[in-house]
Amino acid sequence: MLLQSLLLAVLATSTLAQFPPELFSPLIPSKILATTNALPNPIQYPQYTDARNPGRWLYFSPNTWTSGFFPVTLYELNTRRQRCGVTQANGLGVADWLALGRAASNGLLNLNADTGIGHDVGFISFPFVEELAINPRNQTAIDAINRFARQLAARFNPTVGCTRSWDSSNPTNFQVIIDQYDEPRVYRLTRNPNYLATARRMATYFLNNLPADGIVPWDFNAPLTPAPRPADSSAATLVVNALLLLSEHETTEAAKQQWISGALRILEKITDLAWSSSWQSLLSNGTVSLPGNNFLTGIVYGDYYFIRAGNELVRLGLTSCRSNLRPSPNNNVSPQPQTSSGRRSARVLL
Ligand SMILES: *[C@@H]1O[C@H](CO)[C@@H](O)[C@H](O)[C@H]1NC(C)=O
Ligand SMILES: *[C@@H]1O[C@H](CO)[C@@H](O)[C@H](O)[C@H]1NC(C)=O
Repeated sequence: MLLQSLLLAVLATSTLAQFPPELFSPLIPSKILATTNALPNPIQYPQYTDARNPGRWLYFSPNTWTSGFFPVTLYELNTRRQRCGVTQANGLGVADWLALGRAASNGLLNLNADTGIGHDVGFISFPFVEELAINPRNQTAIDAINRFARQLAARFNPTVGCTRSWDSSNPTNFQVIIDQYDEPRVYRLTRNPNYLATARRMATYFLNNLPADGIVPWDFNAPLTPAPRPADSSAATLVVNALLLLSEHETTEAAKQQWISGALRILEKITDLAWSSSWQSLLSNGTVSLPGNNFLTGIVYGDYYFIRAGNELVRLGLTSCRSNLRPSPNNNVSPQPQTSSGRRSARVLL
């Protein structure tokens, strides 16, 4: 009787949250493997898909701020394999993701202080940080991170009190990008409560300013008319990860639930819009730069944060690793129609 009332109490306070089953689709490992096999030699990395040839990756030199994202995506699939195991349904058995991630990272090792990457060495360090989580004694990865960290530290100017973002031909021009200051992760390392308060305010602003359809726009302040305001699937998947991270630092269940349900809503809406079974990227509807006329693309960091969102949901115990994509008779995997009714619901106990 006590057990029964406890159970009822738990069910009454639980919310029925939905998560996109595409998160664990076998199309993910199969596309990522195909992209790995198509990497140019000498290595270049995918950044976004070609607006003129929709769904086809464009490749960029290692000396590009985004070049760590594809290698770290391979590490992320290794993490997924550790968390979810290998099943026919998840398709993770098609490659040794760790070996592929290590091999793909090697192209980043020759970057030196003269790179055009500027302050973005943190992104380039991602795969090496993942390597150290697996093998903390890997000296190659330790050296790479230390080198990038020294490059970043050298960009701090005590007179200005800031870290210079990009170089400029005009020596009096000291450019600082706002996203150097908005990482909620910052709080995790410093425990400075101002960072947590700022992260909460930014998350609140983000969720309160989402359009009614729940789809993350490329710019909240862009006019809705006359031109349609394009979505940015990469901003959406990144924010999902940020909200999940923020939820971990909350101590009340209500606060945790607020961020988790916001994350799941954004994830579901963007997956409905942007999941693509035919493009080389996992997601479409990314905006790299609307003024640069670079939108309606897949983006390598959008895909990375999509996979990572699935992995984080598993780590937090909010979803299982299963996909509900049904195999078709010829054994190829075809995605289910993307309707909300095709969604599997997960009971999330918060
Ligand atoms: C150490 O890390 C580098 C860079 O990530 C990788 O290429 C290399 O294979 C790793 N070495 C070992 C022994 O795992
Ligand atoms: C999403 O991307 C598809 C394919 O590029 C495009 O046809 C569609 O208009 C986009 N939708 C939105 C809302 O941006």
